Amino acid sequence: MKVLVVGNGGREHAICWKLLQSPRIEQVFCVPGNGGTATLSRCQNVPLNVNDFPAMAELAHREGISLVVVGPEVPLANGITDYLQSQGLMVFGPTRVGAQIEASKAWAKTLMQEAGIPTAHATVFTQASAAKSYVKEHGAPIVIKADGLAAGKGVTVATSLNQAVEAIDAIFQGQFGLDAAKFVVVEECLVGQEVSVLALTDGVTICPLLPAQDHKRIGEGDTGENTGGMGAYAPAPIATPELMARVQTEVLDRAIAALKAQGIDYRGVLYAGLMVSPDGDYKVLEFNCRFGDPETQVILPMLDTPLEDLLLACVQRTLSAVPIRWKSGAAATVVASSGGYPGHYDKGKVIHGIADAEAQGAVVFHAGTQLQDEDLLTDGGRVLNVTGVGADFAAALGQAYTGIQNIYFEDIYYRRDIGYRVIGER
Ligand code: AMP
Ligand code: GLY
Repeated sequence: MKVLVVGNGGREHAICWKLLQSPRIEQVFCVPGNGGTATLSRCQNVPLNVNDFPAMAELAHREGISLVVVGPEVPLANGITDYLQSQGLMVFGPTRVGAQIEASKAWAKTLMQEAGIPTAHATVFTQASAAKSYVKEHGAPIVIKADGLAAGKGVTVATSLNQAVEAIDAIFQGQFGLDAAKFVVVEECLVGQEVSVLALTDGVTICPLLPAQDHKRIGEGDTGENTGGMGAYAPAPIATPELMARVQTEVLDRAIAALKAQGIDYRGVLYAGLMVSPDGDYKVLEFNCRFGDPETQVILPMLDTPLEDLLLACVQRTLSAVPIRWKSGAAATVVASSGGYPGHYDKGKVIHGIADAEAQGAVVFHAGTQLQDEDLLTDGGRVLNVTGVGADFAAALGQAYTGIQNIYFEDIYYRRDIGYRVIGER
């Protein structure tokens, strides 16, 4: 079968790579793809815009594509699934109404509250003045969230009242877009460790994948600015079997029931971002409507079931018949980024050493790269995800770090402490 994968990050490279391990996959097309997907055999990049749905439908019909897998949230929120389904195509990923679970924090919060899903206490405001009075009454620390998609930048964990007030003003002044300027969500500040539970669903059955943790901050010791993620590992030991059993009944089953009750046929990934408190209790911070990045780069290498079996089962509503099998051991990924990220950085630096890293056992997923003639060039803030798989975290992290030491581009930066919480664990 032929598959079309939409997106151009490390997540999409990992999805293409995993699909291509199956002899059943004849060819993968990636729109627009990156330097990594360009070099996979049986994979072809197609330079289309991910929001040009008619062009993708045309490509899918012309090439006889059986399944479209959508990586990023923006085309999902813009209705790529609705459009391609109307053109007779099978699509993995929720429709526009389902994608609101990520695209509107106010909508998602209401759904969680009505469904009885454990989540941070929050209030939605439509006016800046009311939001500010509330914040002054409750004090800092407090969390201010813009509604709508803000590429991960719409959340302020305010440690002072001033910072909270500034965040509210920024939102209502439209700094996160006009849609985001309609609401602000003000939320209690939770403390603990974050864990990502990505689940596959066919709209009826919902099955979690291995829990993963990522390191969001740029600096070692989880300090400094927030990023898209500087490294990740799975399975996260903090998500014990007891916690996962609670998440199944209290979060995943309730979310699917609540979506169904609203007439929403949600098929794809439901990603729950949890905060686990020091006493082991947890609350949902957010839902996403897609695979996580870089979590996918550590979850898929651990997957034993052919990925296309699971994705097709979600689309065809037969997920209860397909068991999800995992390899034993652990996976970890370290992100090599451009110096300066998440602030200003330069692109176009020549990347060396990937073949050497891979010869030593690492798997290198490309996040922001571009193949130009013979040269592989940096093309984003996060450039590569150097991934190791091993019997335990020490082995997986060792392989990732041995790999990354072979890689060079000007101003390369990576954290040396990825997985510090789990290094001694299996
Ligand atoms: P979100 O997009 O809602 O996941 O928020 C982005 C990040 O902000 C999360 O990954 C957390 O690090 C942080 N965050 C969000 N909500 C809260 C909260 N209620 N308490 C503490 N931190 C939060
Ligand atoms: N790793 C966080 C996300 O994918 O949203």
